[in-house]
Amino acid sequence: MSDDPAVELEARLEEQESFEPPASFVEQANVSDEGIRERFAEEWPECWTEAADLLTWDETYDEVLDDSDAPHYEWFTGGSLNASANCLDRHVANGAKNRAAIKWEGELGETRTYTYGDLLNEVEAFAASLRDLGVEEDDVVTLYMPMIPELPIAMLACARIGAPHSVVFAGFSADALATRMNSAESEYLVTCDGYYRRGDALNHKEKTDNGLRGVEGDVETVVVDRLGDELTHFLGEHAHDYGELVEAHEGASVEPVSRDAEDMLFLMYTSGTTGEPKGVKHTTGGYLAYTAWTSQAVLDVKPEDTYWCAADIGWITGHSYIVYGPLALGTTTMMYEGTPDYPERDRLWKLIEKNRVDTFYTAPTAIRSFMKWGTEYPERHDLSSLRLLGTVGEPINPRAWKWYYKHIGNEKCPIVDTWWQTETGGMMVTTLPGIDTMKPGSAGPPLPGVDAQVVDANDDPVEAGEAGYLTVQKPWPGMLRTLYKNDERFIDEYWREYSDPDTDEWVYFPEDGAKLDDDGYITVLGRVDDVINVSGHRLGTMEIESAIVGVSGVAEAAVVGGTHDVKGEAVYTYVILEDGQEPTEKMRERVVEGVEDAIGPIARPEEVIFTPELPKTRSGKIMRRLLEDVASGAELGDTSTLRNPEIVAEIQAQVNED
Ligand code: WT7
Repeated sequence: MSDDPAVELEARLEEQESFEPPASFVEQANVSDEGIRERFAEEWPECWTEAADLLTWDETYDEVLDDSDAPHYEWFTGGSLNASANCLDRHVANGAKNRAAIKWEGELGETRTYTYGDLLNEVEAFAASLRDLGVEEDDVVTLYMPMIPELPIAMLACARIGAPHSVVFAGFSADALATRMNSAESEYLVTCDGYYRRGDALNHKEKTDNGLRGVEGDVETVVVDRLGDELTHFLGEHAHDYGELVEAHEGASVEPVSRDAEDMLFLMYTSGTTGEPKGVKHTTGGYLAYTAWTSQAVLDVKPEDTYWCAADIGWITGHSYIVYGPLALGTTTMMYEGTPDYPERDRLWKLIEKNRVDTFYTAPTAIRSFMKWGTEYPERHDLSSLRLLGTVGEPINPRAWKWYYKHIGNEKCPIVDTWWQTETGGMMVTTLPGIDTMKPGSAGPPLPGVDAQVVDANDDPVEAGEAGYLTVQKPWPGMLRTLYKNDERFIDEYWREYSDPDTDEWVYFPEDGAKLDDDGYITVLGRVDDVINVSGHRLGTMEIESAIVGVSGVAEAAVVGGTHDVKGEAVYTYVILEDGQEPTEKMRERVVEGVEDAIGPIARPEEVIFTPELPKTRSGKIMRRLLEDVASGAELGDTSTLRNPEIVAEIQAQVNED
């Protein structure tokens, strides 16, 4: 043992495998009923009225769950409500008009605060504007915007008039925008002129215009002026200025449209095993009830809190836990436009100190970057306002967990490691922060009312200590209802694997592997399909492959994930060129550009490896496992079943050389 208390503490932490919630947290936790899991199991599905009761309904529902057409489950059937009225009007009516709803900070340091009253006014003005442009109930409105307040405003304005939104992450490429708009047959778009990244103004409007060239028909476009004079942009016949519209409709009163609980609230595209992104459909009643309930139970959100989920609203995390869940509960939700290391690596900690943030929710990849940068950055700031920490998006390694616990939470904040997906709408497997013991690296038990189980290939539960497939054996309110206009693919993708339609038994398969611990905790191991997780973002290998084979001169491509110490996984591409093509630097650049143009910089390949052949089995199947081993620098698995075993060593030599 060392005499230095800091070293001693480090050593103790390293060995500690479980952590109890701190007493100071337990005392004030929203959920303190230790019997909640039992109670929810006994009362299932009626237990979910507890979630529905967090909302204000225009018409109460007749039935909690309708499973007559499984797996097309319906929740809170017969009920009706409006999401924007639940996130705004009722709080204003209950005396929270002057409470901050959104606190926003731009990358250059400018700030804006919208009270619930302000937010309602602007949402109504923009809802009226959308109507004027012709948007009707059930029309899909695409929102292609970075982290600026007009994004949640546009979402809520859509929700107010019953027009589902489809948010496309601003970092996605022009082609990705076009694909999603065409798939959703969306004729309306809200975008902006540009935004800041590391101090530089990015031209977003130009990218939007390039995307629109690939969209059929006229699109009415609204452009938010984020950059003022810094960037002039062209407004054509079908493009309108956001500021002018809102000004012209100032003071407008727009009655929230009463939506059926099962009416679509939004679409969110996500990656799957095929090249085509999947349009995940979420509904008004079940989704909103589920995000509100999990925000309360897991994130311990209280109206007087300042709550910060540092995700991007372009992903499901931002939809559920920056916008809908927190605003439904009437709390103050923070938004930050920029990168965590601009102008310095303490930007996030500075924001926490300045805003006295209570809860901070981020991704393991971010925590691994913070770790790499060192403790001096959080140490510069007073983080004592923090009460709870959370992570989401990928498995968190115990070392990163402990670093977060000690250096951000000062050993006083529980950490919730929340497993869920775009399709689940909200959290599914996590500890409850005021009740459960935490085990770094293991997400925890399933939430109350969630029947998540680790099973073997026959859908039989595995023994404690064993690994298998994660499944959800009963429906839950936040679940996706279908893939947009593609019920068949919905069933194929999520319900085929373990269900038995003959006995009407339906089991949801999220395509993740997991291990069941002795105490019933679930340690998520990662995807078992051809989807990779780069910095908590889901990328389909097929999508990337089809972008690469679209580059002229490329004959074939295989894409796999290789382990990466910050990103979790990184994109490795193996490329076969057409005869006569040379593996030049130029060619490499074209492959990288091809991927960025089709998807966006998040999919940028870590390495492009040219090879004359891919390792294939005798039946001609690409041995992806081997390519993954090569990418990760791991020991190679069995190569004896290959038709061309010699190629593996050749590829490996090339990777080592780079
Ligand atoms: C996939 C879903 C949930 C919003 C962000 C990602 C992985 C997510 C965890 C976690 C281990 C996790 C899974 C899942 N994942 N959270 N806490 N521990 N893995 O949403 O893009 O739909 O991706 O992310 O593999 O299937 P998504």
